Amino acid sequence: MNNLQDKALKDRALKVVPNGMFGHLSVKMQSPRTPQYYKRAKGAYLWDYDDNCYIDYMCAFGPNLFGYAHEEIDAAYIEQLRKVDTATGPSARMIELAEAYADQVSHCDWTMFCKNGTDATTMALMTARAYRGKRKILLATGAYHGATKWCTPMPEGTLPEDRAHHIYYEYNNPNSLRTAAEEAGDDLAGIFATPFKHEVIYPQQLPNAAYAHLARKLCDEKDAMLILDDVRAGFRLDRDCSWESIGVRPDLSSWGKTLANGHALSCLMGSDRAKEAAGKIFVTGSFWSGAAAMAAGLKTLEIIKTTDYIERTVSLGNRLRDGLAQVAKDTGVPMDQTGPAQMPLIMINDEDGNRNLSACMAFCDALLDHGVFFHPFHNMFITPAMSEDDIDRTIEACHEVAKLLPSMSLPEIAF
Ligand SMILES: Cc1ncc(COP(=O)(O)O)c(C=O)c1O
Repeated sequence: MNNLQDKALKDRALKVVPNGMFGHLSVKMQSPRTPQYYKRAKGAYLWDYDDNCYIDYMCAFGPNLFGYAHEEIDAAYIEQLRKVDTATGPSARMIELAEAYADQVSHCDWTMFCKNGTDATTMALMTARAYRGKRKILLATGAYHGATKWCTPMPEGTLPEDRAHHIYYEYNNPNSLRTAAEEAGDDLAGIFATPFKHEVIYPQQLPNAAYAHLARKLCDEKDAMLILDDVRAGFRLDRDCSWESIGVRPDLSSWGKTLANGHALSCLMGSDRAKEAAGKIFVTGSFWSGAAAMAAGLKTLEIIKTTDYIERTVSLGNRLRDGLAQVAKDTGVPMDQTGPAQMPLIMINDEDGNRNLSACMAFCDALLDHGVFFHPFHNMFITPAMSEDDIDRTIEACHEVAKLLPSMSLPEIAF
C-alpha cells in the first residue's frame, strides 16, 4: 500500500494546522500509516489521496447512515441550496422537519436545530438548568457528550469551575445513580445518559432497564430533566428515540450525526414539559437555520421511515460478528466484540483479558493493506450501503491478518 500522497499532505498540514489535524478525526492515535485525508467517498467506500480504496467501518464516526454521496439525499440538498440555504431567516423546511420529528419520535413535541452534537448537548444542559433554576447535572463517568468546556475529555483550556456542578455516576448502576441524585439533593437540574455505554476502549454495555427506569423516576420525583444523548446512536438503533424500546422517554434528547446523512444538522428535541425552559435560553449560530441540510434531513427521515435499513444493518453486523467469532476460534486471537451489531466495538485482548492496544493497532494497520478501515479502539458503524460481499471480504482479511498477528512486531502505544 502506497501512502506517499497522504504523507505529503500530513507534512504540509503540520505547518498550517496545529498537529496537522485536531479532534476526533485526527489519526495521531492510530498507526502512522493510517490515512488522514480522503479525496472521494461513495456508498460504503472511501478513497485516500494515494487511490487506495477502503470499506469504511467508521462511516465518518456516524454521519454516514445510508452511504456516502447518497443520490436522493444529496439531490434534495442541492435543490434546496439553489433556492435558499443560509439566509436572514430560516425557510419553511425548519417547520416541516420539526413537525416530522414530532410525528416520528414519541417524546418529541418540539425541536431546536443546530449544527453539531455538542451544540445539541449544550442546549440540553442549559435547558435543564433553565427549567427550575437548579444547578446539578448527573453524568455517567467516561461518557462522551462533545467537545466544549463542560464536557471535553481533554481538560486543557478549561477550568475546574466549568464542571463545578457535575456529579458522576456509574453507567447501568442504579445504586450509583441513586447516590449521585441524593448528593444533588434539591439542586438536581438533570440527568444525562447515552443510549448504551459506548465510550472508547471499554466493553460496550447495553442499558439495563432498572437503571434507565430509575433515571426517569428520579427526574420525576425531583422535578428535573432526563436527557438522552442520542447524538451517536440516534436512528441507528431505533426509528424512534433509542430508549423507546425499553419504555423510557426522556424530556430532552440530543441528536446529530445521522440526521441528514452527512450534511451538517443536529438538534435538541423535547417534550412539552421542557418547552418553556427551552424557550428561555439564548442559543444561535450563523449557520443553524441552513435550509439545505434540513431538506436533506427531511429526505433522510423519509428513508428511515420507509426502508428496512435497521434490520439490514443488524443482519450485516451479525454476519460480521459471527465471521469474526469464527476467525478468533480458528486463529486463537482473543477478539472481544461488544455493543449492538450495527455499532460494534471490536478489540483484541491479551491472555489476562486486558485490552491489548498494541495488537489492536497492528491489526487495524495490517487491514489497511486489504482495503478495510477498522478503528483500533472506537466503536464502528455498519451502513446498509455495505454488501454481504464487503462483509465477507472483511472477514477474510481479518482471518489473514489474525493468522500473522502472533509473528508481527507490535507498536509501542504512546498514550
Ligand atoms: C454521544 C455523543 N454526544 C455528543 C457528541 C458530539 O457531537 P459533535 O462531534 O457533532 O459535536 C458525540 C460525537 O461523537 C457523541 O458521540
